[in-house]
Amino acid sequence: MTPGGLELRRARSLLVYWQDGELRFVNFARGVTVSGRLVTCNVLDFFNEWKTANQAASHFAGYSRKSVNSTVNQLIERGLLVRKNSAEARFDAELSRRWSSWLPEGSFHFLTKDARYVRRTRTLAEWRAMLPKRPAPNKFKSVTGAKKIPLPKLAPADSEFVNVLMNRKTYRKFSKRDLPLATVSQILSLVWGVRGYLHSPVFGRLIHKTSPSGGARHPGEVYLMALRVNGLKPGLYHYHPGRHELEMIRASATPQKAKLYCAYQSYAKDAAALFLMTAIFDRTMWKYPKSRAYRVVLLDAGHLAQTFCLVATWLGLAPFCTAALSDSLIEKDLKIDGISESVLYAAGVGMRRQVRDRRSNIRNN
Ligand SMILES: Cc1cc2nc3c(=O)[nH]c(=O)nc-3n(C[C@H](O)[C@H](O)[C@H](O)COP(=O)(O)O)c2cc1C
Repeated sequence: MTPGGLELRRARSLLVYWQDGELRFVNFARGVTVSGRLVTCNVLDFFNEWKTANQAASHFAGYSRKSVNSTVNQLIERGLLVRKNSAEARFDAELSRRWSSWLPEGSFHFLTKDARYVRRTRTLAEWRAMLPKRPAPNKFKSVTGAKKIPLPKLAPADSEFVNVLMNRKTYRKFSKRDLPLATVSQILSLVWGVRGYLHSPVFGRLIHKTSPSGGARHPGEVYLMALRVNGLKPGLYHYHPGRHELEMIRASATPQKAKLYCAYQSYAKDAAALFLMTAIFDRTMWKYPKSRAYRVVLLDAGHLAQTFCLVATWLGLAPFCTAALSDSLIEKDLKIDGISESVLYAAGVGMRRQVRDRRSNIRNN
């Protein structure tokens, strides 16, 4: 097709770099990388604002019209040029507008979306073959030449808090029993609920939760995927931490979908509930216009997940957390745009199976 009079513009979500001696162009909104030549940079530079292929043909008069058209077509196909009024152009403009202060570093967020599916369990031999040929890095660091000061031995753990800490572990097998709604309510309240408010003379009313949050911005949101919750229809729900209530988004949730959300990890389908953790970036961007604050958003999610693991352990449940996610599918189902709000992490839980825990490698040292 000849692009002719179609108005086109260079995608804003674009990075250009050299790798292994090749010039590469990546559209991080689409996650597409292509190799190109220096002249590609000139063409993309020309399309800084809306222009047509006809205008490009006049501008690059040293090239035949056929060759300019073919280049333009390839750039459209690969997402380096976007068509005016297309869904792609709108997404591109929205991303660059909302993330302007955190780009280009923030492109990392988009480039690392959508974990590759692990469709089947790997054998031990396959795992070994995949690993680097060099030995694994040392698990402990010892400072050579530093004076060593032995620390006092701890008394055996005798508090509820220490017992919870000592018993936290990742479960991937669950009882078939349903999770009571009251338990879900307790988890949501203790992990994501508002515990109170702080007053800042500059920032006004700020939220306080059981997990810390950089600048008390609390960018984290949580969505419950109820699979087997007694007293709640299977579905997707948004948790409102201020009102401690659920808002139904979708009246269906299947074990197969849970597995899909967790990038085909089979154990996810046996969980009773998933907690899909997202962030509304602008809450943090508003105060911190520098991209380093993206780290803070991720660290916040980590804090929430640890609080979740401890609360679930305290409740005698079987918790897990996973970063291997089908981000785009989750975002579509949660009806969030993946730009202003995006999924970061998932935690899940089931009732514990009534089997003796054979793992006893937790030491009190
Ligand atoms: C950030 C993060 C991401 C994780 N992602 C996965 C995952 O994708 N799949 C999984 O089975 N476990 C995942 N885990 C769980 C770890 O594999 C687990 O914590 C580790 O094996 C140690 O076991 P423990 O939690 O019982 O101490 C993740 C843990 C963390 C902290």
